[in-house]
Amino acid sequence: MSNLIEVLTKDGSYSLRSVFFQENFHSLLGALEETKLKFTAPSNLQRFKGKSLNVLDICFGLGYNSASLLNELIKQKSYLNLYALEIDKKPLEYSLRNKSFLKLWAPKVKKIFESLYRKDYFEDQFFKCSLLWGDAREKINIIPSSTKFDLIYLDGFSPQKCPQLWTIEFLSKVTEKLNSQGYLITYSSSAAVRKTLRNLGLDIFTIKPSFNNRTLWSQGTVAISKFDKNKLKPNLTFEKLSVMEEEHLLTKASIPYRDQDLNSSKCDIINNRLNEQLFSNLLSTNKWREKWGMTKSSVKS
Ligand SMILES: C[S@@+](CC[C@H](N)C(=O)[O-])C[C@H]1O[C@@H](n2cnc3c(N)ncnc32)[C@H](O)[C@@H]1O
Repeated sequence: MSNLIEVLTKDGSYSLRSVFFQENFHSLLGALEETKLKFTAPSNLQRFKGKSLNVLDICFGLGYNSASLLNELIKQKSYLNLYALEIDKKPLEYSLRNKSFLKLWAPKVKKIFESLYRKDYFEDQFFKCSLLWGDAREKINIIPSSTKFDLIYLDGFSPQKCPQLWTIEFLSKVTEKLNSQGYLITYSSSAAVRKTLRNLGLDIFTIKPSFNNRTLWSQGTVAISKFDKNKLKPNLTFEKLSVMEEEHLLTKASIPYRDQDLNSSKCDIINNRLNEQLFSNLLSTNKWREKWGMTKSSVKS
C-alpha cells in the first residue's frame, strides 16, 4: 500500500504522492491551504467555543485535517471526541519526522500525534482521540452506534482512484453517523458523490471557490441532514448549488459508485459503473461541459 513520494506544494507545505493510488494526497497549490479552505473554514468551529463536539476524520493520512482542527480547538478551549480512520501508518510516521509539518501547529498536536502513532489513542481533560487502523469500510463499524458526529471529514483519494470510499453503501454508513445538524465535508464536487448524498436525504451545498482560486467552480461539498436554510448566511464558506452544478447532477456523471457487500475491488466498482453509464438515458456529461465552458473542478493532483 505504501510507496510514498514527498511533494513540496506551492504554499510551502509538504505532502505525499501515493504510487499505489497514482495520486497526490493534496492539491499541488498547497496542502495547508487545502485543509484550511476545504475542511477547517467550512466547519464553522466558532460554534463550539467552550463546548464539546464529536468529529470523524476519514482518511487521516498525514493528519492535516485533524491537526488543523486540534489547533483551532486548543485556542478556543473546546472539548473534542475524535475518531480517525486510516489504512496506512506510513503517512503519520512521515508527519512525525517532518519538522516543517510539526511547526505549523501548537506543540500539543505533536504530543497527540505521537500518542496516536504509538498507542492509537490519546486522552486528556479536553481531548479524547482514537485512530482506527485498517480499511475504513470495516473499521467504521467499530465506532459505537450511539456516537453521532458534528463533523465528518471525508478525504479519500478521488472517486476514480479510490471508488471504495465513495459508494452508496459506504456513504450510507457514514451519513448514519452524522447528527442532525452535523456537517459532512469533502473536497470532492463529483456529481456521483453529491447525488448519492442527496439521495441519502441530505441537503448539499457547494464550498465557494476562494479569491485566489477563481478558475475552480467549487472547492468541495458540505452535506447536512436537517439544515435550517434560513441559517444560510453570506459569511458561511458554503452556499446552495449553482444552476450549473444542479445540471451536473442530471448527467451520466451522477451515476453512483456501488459496492453491495462493501468488499468490492476498485476495478469492479469502476467497471460496473461504466456499464450502468453506457445503458443510461441521462444527459451526456460532455454536453454539460460544452454548455458551461467547463473549467477545472477540485482534484488532488
Ligand atoms: C488523500 S489522502 C488523505 C489526506 C489526509 N487527509 C491528510 O491530511 O494528509 C487519502 C488517504 O486515504 C487512505 N486510504 C486509502 N484507502 C483507504 C481505505 N480503504 N480505508 C482507509 N484509508 C484509506 C490512504 O492511505 C491515504 O492516507
